[in-house]
Amino acid sequence: PLPPAFRTPLPLPSVLKPVSTSGGVDRYEMTQRQAKLEILPGVRTPMWTYEGTFPGPTIESRRGRPITVTHRNELPVPTVVHLHGGRSTPASDGYPTDLVLPQGWQDPAHGMSGTQQMTGMHGMSGAHEMHDPRAVVTRLTRDYSFPMDQRPTLLWYHDHRMDFTAPAIWRGLAGLQIVRDDAEDALGLPAGPRELPLMIADRAFTRDGNLCYPALDPSLREQPGVREAYLSGVLGDVILVNGAPWPVHEVDAARYRLRILNASNARHYELEAVTDDGRRLDLVQVGADQGLLAAPVTHRFLPIAPAERYDVIVDFAGVPVGSSVRILNRLGSGHTRDVMAFRVARRAADHSRVPRVLAHDLPTWRRSDAARVRDFSFRAGRMRGGHGWLIGGQPFDPARTDVTVRLGDVEVWRLVADVHHPVHLHLVGFRVLSRSGRAPLPHDAGLKDTISLRPGEAAEIITRFDGYHGRYLFHCHNAEHEDMGMMANLEII
Ligand code: C2O
Ligand code: CU
Repeated sequence: PLPPAFRTPLPLPSVLKPVSTSGGVDRYEMTQRQAKLEILPGVRTPMWTYEGTFPGPTIESRRGRPITVTHRNELPVPTVVHLHGGRSTPASDGYPTDLVLPQGWQDPAHGMSGTQQMTGMHGMSGAHEMHDPRAVVTRLTRDYSFPMDQRPTLLWYHDHRMDFTAPAIWRGLAGLQIVRDDAEDALGLPAGPRELPLMIADRAFTRDGNLCYPALDPSLREQPGVREAYLSGVLGDVILVNGAPWPVHEVDAARYRLRILNASNARHYELEAVTDDGRRLDLVQVGADQGLLAAPVTHRFLPIAPAERYDVIVDFAGVPVGSSVRILNRLGSGHTRDVMAFRVARRAADHSRVPRVLAHDLPTWRRSDAARVRDFSFRAGRMRGGHGWLIGGQPFDPARTDVTVRLGDVEVWRLVADVHHPVHLHLVGFRVLSRSGRAPLPHDAGLKDTISLRPGEAAEIITRFDGYHGRYLFHCHNAEHEDMGMMANLEII
């Protein structure tokens, strides 16, 4: 039996403390390990975690202050950590074959020990053996270093192992990272207890509390992907926010800043905030995937695709004390229509503001700035003798460079979809130029790193490839599509 909606208190992920701070760099340590967590009341769910919690602990960063995170892999399979939305160097971007092997994992190509690095590792064996001469594999631990030289925003870190990202995230490998700076702090947006990170993710459970996932290979060692019935992506019937089913949170009758992430593998939401008497509250968007908008945009409901983030102000001031505001998903039905609720507990003073101008630093790239226009199709197709998902007619191959761009160039990319595909570019933020020849949608505002391509749509995005030389990725962030081929290599030279 599923727990009743809006009874479980909303958990807030703990904030990770650095183990040391020297030379202006904060050093963190995280252990990836199995843990049994009480997600549904009264039962323990075996999960894969960062530091024993789901979501993993939050990292709070300041813009321009570099960090190093030492990850230790005590899980039974190799892992890779990617900081989604991070302006990271290629070495720390979590390329899908840059594995951290667990102790005792037998690699067919090399016998190695300790944390010595090796390159040119072969794939995991089995049906999909692939050679990636550039892979950098470590055993047990790996240091990921991030300059954090980027606009303040909500990022998230998650597993990115080739072919097995979806089941790893499903089992719990996801956490938040927030970047801040003085300019954003000075805006006067709701803060402290009135700023809430909300990681929304659906999951399915068996009767005894185990997570249910239709992997072709439950050991997650050799055969990637899911059974054919789940090709379009895996959905759960339990909606978790910060790891709790349909939670409730007590609030003051005041403005709150909601930092929303859709961490679901495949589920899309259209969020709305509805009072007990059926009134819809405005969702005032102040930020997108890559930080503050130039000016707030007011929505009645907010579509959010896997991996997208929205920074939203909701004002509970007009809501009677003792009543509730439910966050609902217009795309759901039955249990999946409910997401979470806020219970307005008391009147309170509110000194927060939502300035009319939020940021002055949004890029103003124009079509005429583009050195190149490229076309990419995102479509179903055949791969490795089965069904899969292809970019430009090809499934992911780490040994192939799909796109070479010059550092500093502005480019326009035209993305065409068959079904719904949330397309994500590593390293860069982009702006949406058009959707099927028309103006972008209201929720396309600002700087994005993931665009929700709708069925049959052709969208244009524009970006400047600045940052670092090296190998990056772009892919569909429907995690099942990603594991089944829908990823490509982007080389910046
Ligand atoms: Cu959130 Cu390449 O991923
Ligand atoms: Cu897709």
